[in-house]
Amino acid sequence: MSNATSSHPPGAIRKKITVPAVRARKGREPLTMVTAYDFPGGKVADQAGVDMILVGDSVANVVLGYETTNQVTLADMIHHTAAVARARPKALLVADMPWMTFHVSPEETLRNAGRLVREGGAEAVKLEGGALRVEMIRKLVSAEIPVMGHIGLTPQSVHAAGGYQVQGRRLKDARRMIEDALALDSAGVFALVLEGVPAALAQAITRRVGVPTIGIGAGPDTDGQVLVMHDMLGLNFGHYPKFVRRYAELSGEAVAAIDRWIRDVRRGAFPSEEESYHMIDAAALELIEEPGTDLAIGH
Ligand code: KIV
Repeated sequence: MSNATSSHPPGAIRKKITVPAVRARKGREPLTMVTAYDFPGGKVADQAGVDMILVGDSVANVVLGYETTNQVTLADMIHHTAAVARARPKALLVADMPWMTFHVSPEETLRNAGRLVREGGAEAVKLEGGALRVEMIRKLVSAEIPVMGHIGLTPQSVHAAGGYQVQGRRLKDARRMIEDALALDSAGVFALVLEGVPAALAQAITRRVGVPTIGIGAGPDTDGQVLVMHDMLGLNFGHYPKFVRRYAELSGEAVAAIDRWIRDVRRGAFPSEEESYHMIDAAALELIEEPGTDLAIGH
């Protein structure tokens, strides 16, 4: 991995990305965020040089095989966040708050976010929803927990919305989304994910809020972009939305690699001499001499 290509020069010391550094990128070089759910995912994302790693509740679909993100628990999110944190990324580590962990009361929201920070090692949390979440966000911000907002197509609303549809195509809905964005901005979010939003609306929101917007299926005119790692690497065994660009086809490569290994084992070509451990010469010879050991021991 060390000689793999990445967007920062080899050997360059990368500075830790902080919440103020993300805020300062508003209107400047586009921010990049990718999801990761485990130690190797965290290493790969960080070595490539992303600004932020999101331990998304999309872990439900792409890693755990659930139908919706609503199946994921706080314990799951802490477990996966801690695994990514052990990669010690320079990227800012953001953890998703799963469904029902920020809905009951500001106090419970704070306790749950605190666990993602203390036990999971998250440096910020993300939560879905608009103006309805303002009270919860203020509570977290007052406890020094940085919050990333998430509006538009919010997958945790799948049952209420009746599916996964692009949001804000009509003027009335677009206006409501702008109100939501402004409410989250003044509640103190440090960045705002816009998912499944028409490009013109994402641009309008980006112009009106003071914090960076991070788009996914929201066109090019946001302050940054986020993609699910398993989507961009061709490692998702489910549905690929139209906004996904696949930069690799890893599931095909992985199947082909394991298939080559199966063939090698079956034709006796794996393992080789170099891939085997050997006894010291004298011991091997003595073992061969022992009665019943009619083996040809390679050494
Ligand atoms: O869970 C996730 O992966 C997300 C991104 C799609 C923004 O919330």
